[in-house]
Amino acid sequence: MCGIVGYVGNRNVTDVLMQGLKSLEYRGYDSAGVAVRCDKNIKVIKSVGKIANLEEKLQGFNDKSTIGIGHTRWATHGEVNEVNCHPHSVNNVVLVHNGIIENYRELKRELELVGYSFLTDTDSEIIAALIDSYKGNKCDALVYAQMKMKGSYALVIMFDDEANTLYAMRKDSPLIVGIGENENFVASDISVILPYTKKYVDIEEGEVVKITKSEVLVYSENGLVDKKIKTALWSIEDAQKGGYEHFMLKEMNEEKDLCVKLYNKFIEDGNYSDDIPDISSYNDIDIVACGSAFYAATVGKYLIDTYVCDRSVRVNVDVASEYRYKKHFYGDKSLVIVVSQSGETADTLACLRMANSLNVDTLAIVNVPSSTIAKEAKLVMPMLAGPEIAVATTKGYFSQVLELSLIAQKLGYIKGTISKEEKKLLIETFENLKSYLIPLFEIDYSTIASKLWFKEHIYFIGRGIDYIVGLEASLKLKEISYIHSDVYQAGELKHGPIALIDNDTPVISIITNDEIKEKSLSNAIEAQSRGASLYLLASENVDTDNLKIDEIIRVPRISEFYQPLLNIIPFQFIAYEVAKLKGCDVDKPKNLAKSVTVE
Ligand code: AGP
Repeated sequence: MCGIVGYVGNRNVTDVLMQGLKSLEYRGYDSAGVAVRCDKNIKVIKSVGKIANLEEKLQGFNDKSTIGIGHTRWATHGEVNEVNCHPHSVNNVVLVHNGIIENYRELKRELELVGYSFLTDTDSEIIAALIDSYKGNKCDALVYAQMKMKGSYALVIMFDDEANTLYAMRKDSPLIVGIGENENFVASDISVILPYTKKYVDIEEGEVVKITKSEVLVYSENGLVDKKIKTALWSIEDAQKGGYEHFMLKEMNEEKDLCVKLYNKFIEDGNYSDDIPDISSYNDIDIVACGSAFYAATVGKYLIDTYVCDRSVRVNVDVASEYRYKKHFYGDKSLVIVVSQSGETADTLACLRMANSLNVDTLAIVNVPSSTIAKEAKLVMPMLAGPEIAVATTKGYFSQVLELSLIAQKLGYIKGTISKEEKKLLIETFENLKSYLIPLFEIDYSTIASKLWFKEHIYFIGRGIDYIVGLEASLKLKEISYIHSDVYQAGELKHGPIALIDNDTPVISIITNDEIKEKSLSNAIEAQSRGASLYLLASENVDTDNLKIDEIIRVPRISEFYQPLLNIIPFQFIAYEVAKLKGCDVDKPKNLAKSVTVE
C-alpha cells in the first residue's frame, strides 16, 4: 500500500526520488520521506502529509547526491507522524519497507534482549535492527532477515558503510529493478521508471539484489541468477494526466477506447477469440475479489446464472477476505477466478495461492502485467486498461465487467444456451459499444451533483443487474465524496430501509431491466411518498409521464451483457462531480490507497 523508490546513477537523486514519489503517491499519502547519501553519511528527511510537504522541506537541500531511497506511507503500524514515517535507520542500516511483518513483536523482544532499543511503533524499524544485528556479509544479513521474518515485505536498503550500493528484496509485495544506462532504479511500481527506462527485471521471493549504477546482481540460494530483462508495455503518457484535471477524469474518458481495444483483442472474424478463456469444462466456479472487483465479479455471476443457466454450472462469488478463511470442497471440475486491477491485493492473492496449492485451476482477470497475481495464476486474461492511478477505479471496473461478460457469453455459446443468432447480435452490440457510450460522456452531470453534494445520506435502489450496478455506484460515491451511501434491492426497501427516508433524502433508482421495470418504478414511488427526492437512471422505454422526478438520466437499452457498462458511467461522473464540489481530493481520497497489499 506504500510506495517505494530507490535510485543510483549520475542524476540528482532528490529529483529522481521526488518524481518517483509523486507518481507513487496514489499508493499511500499519510507521510513521505527520503534518505540520500551526502558525502560520508546518509541524511534522512521526512514529512507528514502529502508529498508536497516533503518537497517543501527539501527546498534548499541542494546536495549533489546521486544515490538514495524514498517512501510514501499508508500507515499500518503506529500513527501517522514523522517518527513512524520511513526511511528508518538503525546504526549501519537505513531502509524503506512496504508490507507487514507479522512476527515483529517477537523479533522486537529478541532484539531488545541483545541491546537494541526502538524509537518508532513500526514493524519496519525492527527489520533495520534485525539486519544490523547480523555480523558479516551484507547479502548474508539479508538472507538471515528473510529467514527470521514472517509476513510481507518489499525492502530497499542502504548501508552507512557502503556508499555506492542499494540492496533490495521482496516477499508478497511488489518490487522491480529498472535498468538504465549507467543508472539503476528500484520501485514498487513500474510507472516510477517509465520516465527513464522501459527495461526492468522482476525480483522473486528469496532473492537478494545488489544494485550499483553499473550493475544489478541478483542472488538466490543457488548463487548468481541470470535474470531476464523485460520491457514495460506501458508508456509514460499512459501514466500521466494528459491534460485532464484529475486521473479519475482521464481514466473515465479512456473507457470509450478501452471497449474498442477489448473488442479487437477478444473478437476475431465475428467470433469469440481463443483469448477469452473457455471455462465450459468446469461445473463449479468461484469468483473471488475485493471492493469494486468483487462487484464486477457479482455482475459475472449474474450473467452466467441468468443466461447460461443449464444446471451444469454453479457460480459462487465471495469477497477474498472472507473466502480465504472458509472451507472449500473442490472437485476436479472446480475453477477459481480471481479479479484484480492491481494484481497485488493481499486477500485476493492469498485466495489464488490457496487454490493453486490445492491444485485447483485458477484464472486471473488482472490489469498490471508484472503483478504477482498475473505471475502466479495458471491462466491470465489481461484487462488491457493501462495504468490506473486514481484510487477509485473506473476503467478497471469497466474492463473487469466486460471481460466477465465475454467469458459468460462464450460459455453460453459453447453450452448452447446462447444461439448463433444471439451471439451474432451480442458481437454486433460489442462492436458498437463505443457509440452507445459516447452520449453518456456528453451529459452535464453538474446539475445533479449540485443537488447532491451537501447531502448526508444517499440511497440507491434497483433490481437484478440494476441493483448490482448500484453497489459499485454507491461505493464510488462514498469513497471519493465521503457521503454516506447505501444500496438496496428495490423490493427490500419496504422491509426496513424505508424507515431511513426523510424529507428530501435522495433516492437514486436504477431502472433498465425491462421485465421488472414497473415494479422498480413502484418501489421508487413508495420512497417518494415518504418524502424522498427521486432521481432516476432509466432506459429510454421506462415511462415516467405524470411522475415528479428531480432529475432523470436516460441510458440506451441494450443487452444485459453490456447494460452495466452504460449504467455505471453516469454514476462515475456524478461521484466525480460531487467530490469536486465538496473540495475532496478526487484522486487520493482520505484513508484509502490504490493497492491494498495488507490483510
Ligand atoms: C475501488 O474504487 C476501490 N478503491 C477498491 O474497492 C478496489 O477495487 C479493491 O481494493 C480491489 O483492488 P484490485 O482490483 O486492485 O484487487
